[in-house]
Amino acid sequence: MTRQTKSKRYLHSVKAFAVIGVLLSVIGVMAFALDNGKEKTVESESSLPAFKKDSITSVKAFKQVYTVLISPRCMNCHPSGNIPLQGDDSHLHEMSPQRGTDGKGVYAMKCSNCHQPTNTPGLHTPPGNPNWHLPPADMKMVFQGRTPSQLAKQLIDPKQNGHKDMKKLIEHADDGLVLAGWNPGEGRTLPPMSHAEFKKAWITWLTTGAYAPKGK
Ligand code: HEC
Ligand code: HEC
Repeated sequence: MTRQTKSKRYLHSVKAFAVIGVLLSVIGVMAFALDNGKEKTVESESSLPAFKKDSITSVKAFKQVYTVLISPRCMNCHPSGNIPLQGDDSHLHEMSPQRGTDGKGVYAMKCSNCHQPTNTPGLHTPPGNPNWHLPPADMKMVFQGRTPSQLAKQLIDPKQNGHKDMKKLIEHADDGLVLAGWNPGEGRTLPPMSHAEFKKAWITWLTTGAYAPKGK
């Protein structure tokens, strides 16, 4: 064999490898795109991610969810009484605005008188949201004072959760007032994990069977 043919053969195999390499990455990209597409269709078709009962994973996820629910950013609007709570120490709201039938306050003390559509700049000013109010009197959705076990059972009970089914519960992770917890206005601490982590734990808890932790 001459030198030339040897190097030609060498070149040939290099080309062959390059072609295989390109093919493989094309297949890889296609598989990835297909996978992504699949995930999207499942979500938009049923809004219910795969359901697989697993009490250990479920309870573990709920323990994370619980730390967010009883953090002041959430619990302050889910009080056991009829007056909202304030501050990182969850003291009773100053000037005692009342829940009222619809959760929006009573007479001259309507929540929206002080709570604007967006946060008011400055310390100790009212946080804002166009929908700022407590749950209504006939569906108080109390978080304050509930044990993990009690709260887990309450959250999935349609008679206590505002008649929410699994789909509505999952969607509630992106509710405007839930998101408000991560945009609390100056001087207030954030919930103990990011919204993405909370949403992941919330959906994991629900889709693995919504188990309640043992105990009271
Ligand atoms: C401004 C007051 C307010 C804040 C702040 C607030 N919520 Fe709520 N929450 C409400 C109201 C009002 C409802 C009832 C509305 C509805 O059911 O759609 C509700 C309902 C819920 C429900 C559905 C009830 C159930 O039993 O399933 C969940 C879950 C919830 N909130 C979680 C949170 C979390 C988590 C946070 C904090 C990140 C939070 N909330 C912060 C007012 C608030
Ligand atoms: C007279 C004005 C006023 C009215 C009416 C009012 N608030 Fe407030 N609210 C405030 C102010 C000011 C703050 C901030 C206090 C601070 O940070 O020290 C606040 C804070 C809060 C907080 C604490 C938020 C957090 O993340 O800790 C909640 C919850 C709350 N209000 C709910 C309500 C609800 C529900 C209503 C109606 C039933 C209402 N408020 C009516 C002025 C008002």
